[in-house]
Amino acid sequence: MIDLKGHAVVITGAGQGLGAAYARAAGAAGAQVVVNDINAASAETVAEEIRQAGGLAVAEPRDIRDFAAAEALIQRCISEFGAITGLVNNAALFVDVPFEQSTTDQVRALLEVNVVGLFNCARAAVGPMLSQGRGSIVNVTSGAHTGQPGLSTYGATKGAVASFTYGWSGELRDRGVRVNAVSPMASTPMSHNNPALARAETIAPAVLFLLSDRAKDITGQIVRLTGKHLSIMCHPANRAPVLEREVWTLETVAEAFETTLAANQLPTNVVTYEIASIQS
Ligand SMILES: NC(=O)c1ccc[n+]([C@@H]2O[C@H](COP(=O)([O-])OP(=O)(O)OC[C@H]3O[C@@H](n4cnc5c(N)ncnc54)[C@H](O)[C@@H]3O)[C@@H](O)[C@H]2O)c1
Repeated sequence: MIDLKGHAVVITGAGQGLGAAYARAAGAAGAQVVVNDINAASAETVAEEIRQAGGLAVAEPRDIRDFAAAEALIQRCISEFGAITGLVNNAALFVDVPFEQSTTDQVRALLEVNVVGLFNCARAAVGPMLSQGRGSIVNVTSGAHTGQPGLSTYGATKGAVASFTYGWSGELRDRGVRVNAVSPMASTPMSHNNPALARAETIAPAVLFLLSDRAKDITGQIVRLTGKHLSIMCHPANRAPVLEREVWTLETVAEAFETTLAANQLPTNVVTYEIASIQS
């Protein structure tokens, strides 16, 4: 039986959609929950639902784009519950637009929340977590980071989330703080409440597991859960063979492609494939 008793977690963007589902599930599992959203009314509604169901929750509406606000959010967890054992970096913005119609303003707007805001919350949480010798950061990426048509701006921000996850997990490994990410897919306002997608509640078990002590040996992973399908995503890496020469010339690079590397190209948008089936 896994529960989150003794855990105090901050969940960003938890006023609706997946974040609200994570917050309700964490509250039901015994965690003390700080429900964040830029929308104060929705954060308060979710916190009240958790309390009505017998859980412990407070709302802390903040705009995570601002580092001081992120620090205040993390400090609220510590002042309210005495510690911060988990952070679910869930808040994000979305845009679905072909590259040739994309704008600098869209890129900046998404970077500010999805990358800078996510960084702010983790950066504010990591000091207290290291002092405690205990913490789990669960970032939220997306299958779009593999290169889905129309989603390159959104996907690029989620690629940054994946790289933060790999980098932070390596630095914090063996110091008591784990860093993983989830790559969900569910029916929410962001996905236009698409009824063909899984319900948001069905993604919560992956997030709760990563927050829990049962995941004590899991770090640096992207866990993909889309309803029925659960997997971990592979990390970017050099694909064998790695060819070696003292000096590469234009001619030998071209030959390397013609004899070996061209046949080794992997497709983009690999989220719709499995590496084992690509290699076979
Ligand atoms: N829904 C999906 O199928 C899907 C797929 C892949 C990844 N994701 C990711 O899951 C997470 C949750 O997505 P969702 O579908 O529930 O989205 P959503 O749009 O329904 O909810 C996002 C929440 O974040 C809040 N938010 C936005 N900016 C904020 C800020 N500056 N500070 C604090 N809160 C802010 C919003 O008010 C909103 O309540 C996101 O990171 C999203 O990229 C979702």
